[in-house]
This record gives sequence, C-alpha cells and structure tokens, in this order.
Amino acid sequence: MTDKKSILLIIGGGIAAYKCLELIRRLKEHNISVTPVLTKAGAEFVTPLSLATLAETQVHTDLFDLKNETEIGHIQLSRQADFVVVAPATADLMAKMANGLANDLASTLLLATDKDVLVAPAMNVRMWDHPATQRNIATLRQDGVLFVGPDDGDMACGETGPGRLSEPDQIVQAIQAVLHVKKGPLSGKSVLITAGPTHEPIDPVRYIANRSSGKQGYALAEMAASLGADVTLVSGPTKLSPPAGVRYIGIETAREMRDATLANLPADIAICAAAVADWRVKKSAGQKMKKSKDGLPVLDLAENPDILATLSDLKDNRPHLLIGFAAETETVIEHAKKKLKKKGCDWIVANDVSTEGNVFGNDETSIHIITKDSVESFEKVTKSEAAQHVLLKAAETLK
Ligand SMILES: Cc1cc2nc3c(=O)[nH]c(=O)nc-3n(C[C@H](O)[C@H](O)[C@H](O)COP(=O)(O)O)c2cc1C
Repeated sequence: MTDKKSILLIIGGGIAAYKCLELIRRLKEHNISVTPVLTKAGAEFVTPLSLATLAETQVHTDLFDLKNETEIGHIQLSRQADFVVVAPATADLMAKMANGLANDLASTLLLATDKDVLVAPAMNVRMWDHPATQRNIATLRQDGVLFVGPDDGDMACGETGPGRLSEPDQIVQAIQAVLHVKKGPLSGKSVLITAGPTHEPIDPVRYIANRSSGKQGYALAEMAASLGADVTLVSGPTKLSPPAGVRYIGIETAREMRDATLANLPADIAICAAAVADWRVKKSAGQKMKKSKDGLPVLDLAENPDILATLSDLKDNRPHLLIGFAAETETVIEHAKKKLKKKGCDWIVANDVSTEGNVFGNDETSIHIITKDSVESFEKVTKSEAAQHVLLKAAETLK
C-alpha cells in the first residue's frame, strides 16, 4: 500500500516540450507516476521513445489507436489518473480547451476528464499577449482550470516577455500543492481568500477603485497552498499572477466578489483580504459620459454588499474560521477591535495604510492579529511572513 499518485501529462507542440523530459524525472523522484500523452505537433519536438523510456510506460498519441476503444479507452485514460497536467500548453491547446473542442486525443481527454487540470503555458510573447489567448485563459480560469506560469524572460524565438514555460521544479511544486502530497499544517483544509481592489464602473471606460495591489491576499494564497491547504483565490483586478496550484476566480465588482465567494463555500477558513469598494455608482452609464457645458456630472452612489458581514451571518455555511483584514489610517488597533465586533468575524488582521505605514503595493507590512481576547503584533515583516503568522495561527486554532 503506497501513497503513490499518478498524473496524465499532456505534451503540446512547443519548443519547450523538451523540458517535459526533465519534468517526468522530477515527478518520479517525488513518487508521482506519469502517463504521457503527446499531441501530433508535440511529437515534432520530443519522441514517444524518450517519453516512454523516462516514464516507464506506454505513450498515448492517437485517439483511434487506444487498444481498448471498445471499452471507451479514452474515457478511462481521462479518469484513471489523479490529476491532469498540460505542459507545455500551446496557445492552440488552450483555445481548444476554452471552446470545448475534442478533435484529437489530447483535447478529447481534456474534455472528458473529471479530474482537476493544471496548465503550464509556453509560447511566444505575442501569442501570449494576443486578446484571443487572454480571452481563452480568462475562460479557463472561470472553468476552474489551474495555472502555473508562464515565466517572464528570454525566449527561444529571440523575443523577451511572458511566455516561457515554468521550470520543472516550479511545475512539480504546483502539482504537489494540488495533490496535497506535501503534508503541512493546513493539509485537508479548504481556504477561501479574497484579494485586490474592486472596480465599480461609472461608465464603460471609468471606474471607482482604490490603491490595493493584492499583494497581501496573493501572499496568503501562496502560503496557504504551501502549508498544504486547498486554496481558492477570488481576486479583483491586479497586476499579479495567481500563485501556482491555487484555484483562481477573477472578478471586477464587489457584487461579483460576493457572489463568487458565496459560490465557493463551504470553506474551513475564509480570509477577506480584498479592499472592497464601499460604494458603487447606482446606475453606471451605458455609453462614455461626455463633458457638458451644463455642469458637472453627479454620481449617485449606492452601498456595496459587506462580504465579511455576509459570511459571518450565514446560518449553515459559515466558514469555521472567518478572518477579516482592516486597512486603517489612524488608531489602528482600536478601529480594528470595533470592526471585529461590528462584522461578527473571528479575527481581524489590522494594518496601518496611512502614508507612514506605506503598505499599499509594498512588500513589507506591520500587522496586528486581533481576536476576541488577544492582540498579537508583527512589525515590519514581509507580506509573506505576515501570511505565515496568520495561517499558522489559523492551523493551530482549527487543530
Ligand atoms: C518551431 C516551432 C515552435 C513552436 N512553438 C510553439 C510554442 O512554444 N507555443 C505554442 O503555443 N505554439 C508553438 N508552435 C505552434 C504549434 O506547434 C502549433 O500551433 C500546433 O498546431 C500546436 O498543436 P498542439 O496544440 O496540438 O500541440 C510552434 C511551432 C513551430 C513550428
């Protein structure tokens, strides 16, 4: 009896396909077995023989060649692994996935699988930046597909930018996070995190926002995953890449954030680290508002939902441990204590976002973890260290 896990590794037709040979070696070292599936284009870059030798198993290449197709072999193949990984994921494979195409073995398996899918994209920077690719990625994220990378840097084609396949070690770490093979203090726990600002539309081109960079929420998501948790990150618009192996849901407005948060319950721990806009424009304009000689436009505001209080008031699905973040500019601890009472959550993590505190967009912060009967302060720590303090305390509390 072993804890051995298995993955189905789909290798697309990109120049980075050679890295999947190293990936297979690393996975085997971590006691994860690999069944390779090679696309027709992938076979132009690596040979089935190399893959079969390293993986010590048969390589699948053709939908109609599966031995047991009378027993619907492609369905079995898509289900028998613990997890599906696409590396490198070409622009083409992601387009097929986003649109539900199933016209070869790889795309058919991806449509038929009932397992989580992790995608490691690799392509030229222009292909990556193309609106069609970005649209497909947004769709895939919405469908719950997990991502690792791509990295930024020099490419085989001579250009520079995002689009490089993540290094095999990074991909292995992302796979381990999803398979929970790396035991940690949060193993077996689900953690739901909100992060970033929200954007509240005024008209199609303008919005109300705030200075939140999302760094603290993303650091929490990354740390929770590395401590073994199953993590869902609901995030407003930021410049950050979602941490590897974390389920990511991108939203724009406070109401979308509330809906996505509620849709992802139950959770053992929920951390509301997003800087949700307090107000939205009651009725945003359908067309761009024009300057007028008749005077300035008046924005009629409505209050946004209070996500933390909403979670706290839930009867059946309230997270076991509900943590809010408070961005304060004065008398930080006092205000945070009031917020703890008002919102009905279990802890408030307070930070000083006044100019002196200079927290927005910074990698450093000072936090105070405030519970009903204690205050713990951590001054001048990185956001990653702050995340670790919060999550280790959470793990201890839920023991
Ligand atoms: C030399 C060469 C390198 C390529 N590298 C990439 C790449 O890195 N990423 C990508 O998305 N497509 C790349 N392509 C294009 C894909 O091979 C092509 O879109 C193919 O249809 C992908 O098939 P697949 O998605 O079934 O593997 C490359 C093509 C060639 C000829």
